[in-house]
Amino acid sequence: MSLPKVSVIGAGQVGAMVAEHIAIRELADIYLFDVVDGVAKGKSLDMMEAMPHWGSDSFMEGYTVGPNGENYENLKNSEVVVITAGLARKPGMSRDDLLYKNVDIIKSAAENIKKYSPDATILVVTNPMDIMTYATYRIISPKKHKIMGMGGTLDSGRFRTFVAKELGVSVEDVVAFVIGGHGDDMVPFVRYCTVGGIPITELLPKEKIDAIVTRTRGGGGEIVSYLKTGSAYYAPGVSVTVMVESILKDKKRVVTSPVLLDGELGKYYGADGLFVGVPIKIGKSGVEQIYKMSFNEDERKLWDVTVGHVKESVDKVNAYLHL
Ligand code: LAC
Repeated sequence: MSLPKVSVIGAGQVGAMVAEHIAIRELADIYLFDVVDGVAKGKSLDMMEAMPHWGSDSFMEGYTVGPNGENYENLKNSEVVVITAGLARKPGMSRDDLLYKNVDIIKSAAENIKKYSPDATILVVTNPMDIMTYATYRIISPKKHKIMGMGGTLDSGRFRTFVAKELGVSVEDVVAFVIGGHGDDMVPFVRYCTVGGIPITELLPKEKIDAIVTRTRGGGGEIVSYLKTGSAYYAPGVSVTVMVESILKDKKRVVTSPVLLDGELGKYYGADGLFVGVPIKIGKSGVEQIYKMSFNEDERKLWDVTVGHVKESVDKVNAYLHL
């Protein structure tokens, strides 16, 4: 069977979940990479042995990445590369510590993508996600429509879930999206949230909508508070898969994701040169369209706050990478 090739760098919970979903949907052959000896190999073999039950002929292989990038040559000819590799914050570590450590991890992955699969579409998941997407872009300068982050799709799914539960309707009938950075100041875009075409502002009182917005913004943290030693991976894994599927099948899905905002759009959004989540269309060529949102005064304020936070972290990365 001939399927496109998707590589997933980082075979932790999110990376493995991405591989599993892609395999179950028989979207691609999947190549998993991890620096921890045996993890990618073991998980991929386990999933290969699940294929008969999944009814899938996806092929999967795992590689241990050596200290000098050994085995990254197996990235060659990937149509899509997903980067999930990175550390999670441990007690005593600041967000900046995490930022710098993950930039180092991303750097080696990014350089090897450029070396072995320069035409791949790159999807960055590692946190802080908007900043890691920016760092990957600056380190290897891929074509700007070939790189995006994954955060808005996940956050929008959370928003849709909470709206559906509040109204007792199917999640399928809720159209909702979240823009901005993938942090606590992300912007669930209430004015465009509809249920079967009806604006939620006509269905729910302001306090209920505010509570949903707050819960969506803290959605990642809420899961961490339960899991204690890790963060979410079911919803992140399937969110990545939705995006990969749209690229491989050229479905032209419209999702929100951080992409490079530059030129006229960068100026309009006040985010020139940054990666911040906005609605985009994704297909075979990667980012095929970036939509311009109209903001009212309150929305513009919320937008400016989230962009300001992304910019602060980007300044730190620029200093760290001497850019
Ligand atoms: C979340 C983390 C993984 O939002 O960013 O769940």
